Amino acid sequence: MSREKLHALMRRGTDFLGCEVAIMCGAMSWVSERHLVSAISNAGGFGVIACGAMTPELLDTEIAETKQRTDRPFGVNLITMHPGLFDLIDVCENHDVGHIVLAGGLPPKGSIEAIKGTGAKLIAFAPALSLAKKLMRSGVDALVIEGSEAGGHIGPVATSVLAQEILPEVARDIPVFVAGGIGRGEAIASYLEMGASGVQLGTRFVAAHESIAHPDFKKAFIRASARDAIVSVQIDPRLPVIPVRALKNKGCEEFNVKQREVANRLDSQSVEMAEAQLQIEHYWAGALRRAVIDGDVENGSLMAGQSVGMVKREESVADIIAELTEQASLALSYRG
Ligand SMILES: Cc1cc2nc3c(=O)[nH]c(=O)nc-3n(C[C@H](O)[C@H](O)[C@H](O)COP(=O)(O)O)c2cc1C
Repeated sequence: MSREKLHALMRRGTDFLGCEVAIMCGAMSWVSERHLVSAISNAGGFGVIACGAMTPELLDTEIAETKQRTDRPFGVNLITMHPGLFDLIDVCENHDVGHIVLAGGLPPKGSIEAIKGTGAKLIAFAPALSLAKKLMRSGVDALVIEGSEAGGHIGPVATSVLAQEILPEVARDIPVFVAGGIGRGEAIASYLEMGASGVQLGTRFVAAHESIAHPDFKKAFIRASARDAIVSVQIDPRLPVIPVRALKNKGCEEFNVKQREVANRLDSQSVEMAEAQLQIEHYWAGALRRAVIDGDVENGSLMAGQSVGMVKREESVADIIAELTEQASLALSYRG
């Protein structure tokens, strides 16, 4: 009975995505590749390939390989500032990709039309109510609202607040998926009751059996608690730092030392501003790959959300999705 209630609350999301449960696995660079994406979709959820900085050729292979592993729908996440964005959209079109998620800022000129021209549904991130309305007017088909509890690049506002500000205003008109800090089904049930069509989780799926993340990366997730997933700190206003939530490690401490060092060199005029800013910007280049693929959990970037405390063991994607849906159903059954 309560399972029916859950499915009814998710129906708009499942109809939109073409899957059984409206749980998307958010694209995670290096982690969301053919194996995890196909496993999520095969388990009834919705997998999303993280294109990141891939070339069109690499994306082409990744989509083809994912299709080899699942005949269910999955999406592709493209970053707005990728210099080859329009070529990547063509690759998606050639593969008949049904859903494209645009991340990393407002869609650049022409990109919404180009994506919709492929026949794909377009999902965009709305970091505030005004932008949600703007995106809706420009023709996007669904929104993700992601709060600052999430892993990776984050905005300043918590999921609980974004959900209250945005869902009552737009969820009647457009499917909205809530992301950031979701680790259990009870939270999924409550966002659905607030009007969400579904949810997007990342952190909770990193340690899945099917994830290719290095065993040490997974171990770091299993050991960590919520308070270990901290936001990168900007030490000097002249040296902008993009906020990223990740598990604290030696790399984070050294990043702070580096910022102080570069700031001191700016004070003593031994470095130009542009060069100083570049040194900070480049500090984490390749760091996620080093951690996820090579297992360098000391110096690499351990992007993780606060829900990391709810990652207790390595388990299959199907078990994670079954557990989340059971918790959500049970929570709904208590409502009577
Ligand atoms: C390791 C990691 C890498 C991520 N990489 C990306 C990315 O490349 N593109 C993107 O749009 N979001 C990225 N995210 C965010 C996820 O897609 C998702 O929205 C987020 O993890 C949801 O919040 P949660 O971590 O609290 O579950 C990343 C998150 C993690 C943990």
